[in-house]
Amino acid sequence: MNFTDSFLKRITNAEKIVVFTGAGISAESGIPTFRGKDGIWNKLKPEELASFNAFLKNPDMVWEWYQHRRSIIHEKSPNAAHYSITEMEKYFDKVSVVTQNVDNLHRRAGNNNVYELHGNIERNYCIECKRPYNDSGLELENKQVPKCDYCGGLIRPDVVWFGEVLPQDVFAESERLAAESDICFVIGTSAVVYPAAYIPLGAKQAGSCLVEINIEETELSQIADYSYFGAAGKIMPKILDEIKKLKTSI
Ligand code: OAD
Repeated sequence: MNFTDSFLKRITNAEKIVVFTGAGISAESGIPTFRGKDGIWNKLKPEELASFNAFLKNPDMVWEWYQHRRSIIHEKSPNAAHYSITEMEKYFDKVSVVTQNVDNLHRRAGNNNVYELHGNIERNYCIECKRPYNDSGLELENKQVPKCDYCGGLIRPDVVWFGEVLPQDVFAESERLAAESDICFVIGTSAVVYPAAYIPLGAKQAGSCLVEINIEETELSQIADYSYFGAAGKIMPKILDEIKKLKTSI
C-alpha cells in the first residue's frame, strides 16, 4: 500500500489524533457488524431487541440476547487494528478513541483514552435506582433478567438503545476532541447512525484531516481527505509503520 506524500506530511505534523470507530474494526476479531451482508440488523429487528420498550415488554428475551452477545465478545480478542491504535499513543501528544462499539475491545487492547458513545456491554445498571452492576457479578449463563439486590428493579445492560440519548458528557467531550484534532481516523463504520456520526463531520468542519479506513465506500467517503479501502486489521499496522518511521526520524 502506498501512502501519498501529503498524507505522510499530515502525520508528521500531527499532534492530536481522534480515532472514531464502528463495528467494522471488530469484524476481524469475529464480532458481527450491524449492517451489510451478514449484519445483525439483517436478521433481527432492532426495535424488538434494542429498545427500552422491548426490554419492558420482554425483559428475559432481551437479557438473553445480550447474554448471548456478551458470551461471543468474551471469547474474542482485540485484533491488529485495535493494537495499532494503542501503539499510536507513543507517537502523538494525544490519541483519543471515540467508539460506537460496546464490545470493550479498545480498553482490552490497552487504549488509555476511550470514549464510549453507545455504552459498554460489560456493564449493567438497575433501571430503578441506577445502581451499577458489573458483569463479573452477573453470571453469563444466567438467562433470566436479574433484579437489583437493593430495590428489586430490573437490571439492564449499560448500552444506548434506540430512542435513548447518548451519555451527554461523553458526547460533548468527544465533539471537543474531534474539533481540536489534527487527524480524525474513521475506521469500520457505515457512519449512518446519528448523533454519533456528527463526530467525524464536526472534525472535518473544524479543519481536521479526515482519514477513512473501510472495506467499502461509505457516506463519509465523499468528504474524506484520504480513504484507504481494505480490512482495518491489515491497513492500520501499515499506517502505524509509517507513523513510527516519521515520528522517530524527526
Ligand atoms: P455497521 O454495521 O453499520 O457498519 C460496519 C462498517 O464496517 C461498514 O461500513 C463495513 O463496510 C465496515 N467493515 C466491515 N468489516 C470491516 C473490516 N474488516 N475493516 C474495515 N471496515 C470494515 O456498524 P456501525 O457503523 O458501528 O448502535 O453502526 C453504528 C451503530 O448502529 C452501532 O453502534 C449500533 C448500530 O445500531 C447502537 O447499538 C446504538
